[in-house]
Amino acid sequence: MGGALAGAAVFALSPTAGMAVGPARGYIHLNSNENPYGPSAAALRAAYRASEVGAYYAGSINRELQQVIAEENGLTLDNMVLSSGSNEALSAAVVAWGKKGRILAPALTYDLHMKYAQRIGAEIRRVPLAADMSIDLDAMEKAVDRSVSMVYVCNPNNPTGMLIDGDELREFCGRVSQRATVLVDEAYSELTGDPEYSSMIDLVRNGGNVIIMRTFSKLHGLAGMRVGYGMARPDLAARVRHHVMAWPNVIGLAAAKASFEDHAFRSYSRSKIIEGRKVVNDAFTRHSIRPLPSETNFVFADIGRDVDAFAEKLLEKRIRIHASYPDYPTYARVSMGIVEDLHTFADVFDQLITT
Ligand SMILES: Cc1ncc(COP(=O)(O)O)c(C=O)c1O
Repeated sequence: MGGALAGAAVFALSPTAGMAVGPARGYIHLNSNENPYGPSAAALRAAYRASEVGAYYAGSINRELQQVIAEENGLTLDNMVLSSGSNEALSAAVVAWGKKGRILAPALTYDLHMKYAQRIGAEIRRVPLAADMSIDLDAMEKAVDRSVSMVYVCNPNNPTGMLIDGDELREFCGRVSQRATVLVDEAYSELTGDPEYSSMIDLVRNGGNVIIMRTFSKLHGLAGMRVGYGMARPDLAARVRHHVMAWPNVIGLAAAKASFEDHAFRSYSRSKIIEGRKVVNDAFTRHSIRPLPSETNFVFADIGRDVDAFAEKLLEKRIRIHASYPDYPTYARVSMGIVEDLHTFADVFDQLITT
């Protein structure tokens, strides 16, 4: 099945053959949360066709892509924001709301957009995680005072991979959104056990003070093509749109639309990621290491030793994992590669962790 769906079926050679793009060849690349099962064959064909008219600005594909996403989510075009990867819409939102108040966020979370906004004047207030490394919703709620304009929640969270229960987050959003806009980053929500329940999209449908961000970089395996989107009440969506700078490119848009409509690829991609997650989880648990419960395309675990030194040893075996996070020097984050590469990681991990 993989051959019919994955991009490698379109190009006989590795997609990076002969080109200075993509991860360094000869290495197993488990340090960024990408998805090597993408792009789908349909996305590649669409990208190729779009590249033939690359002399022109994007045109109607821009609207068409937003239309199919809006329809699937029970929304309309005025709820939509399209951006160059979700990081751009996230940055735009934090910049926009940062002009009128503080942004509240968990201490350990995805934060490139917040660092960007901080550099241009936004103030970010961090709330420590709970003892079990989950996002501490009670503490977050308590920290919302009149100075806070936006609360950022990444669900599931990066780098922990942990998911907040859907109804718990729904109740949190219901209360907190009376006082500040809640920005829910759902970059990984399509990889959770029950995406419909985990997602806060129903709050957007009901006109709540909530913004949802999603991306084509994860499930769809289109990280390099830079397409992300936001969904929100029309007034909130317009405000984010006004702060977006890049125009999404026609190749990314065409690939994203083809991938979005390719339900067979979506379920294939999801199943490969879940299969890979089990390989990595098993590699840890075999050595009595308890990974955090991940519902994403990466696994985070306290390996009980200096992760940067361990990553160096892995690198000698041509495997890359993420560097340590500040305050978590013994936690390793391993992203999903193709399942065969994850088995190689597991074998190497078996050797190195016992020495
Ligand atoms: C939680 C989260 N949000 C957003 C992004 C940005 O993704 P992109 O800009 O590729 O859509 C990432 C990237 O890893 C992420 O982990």
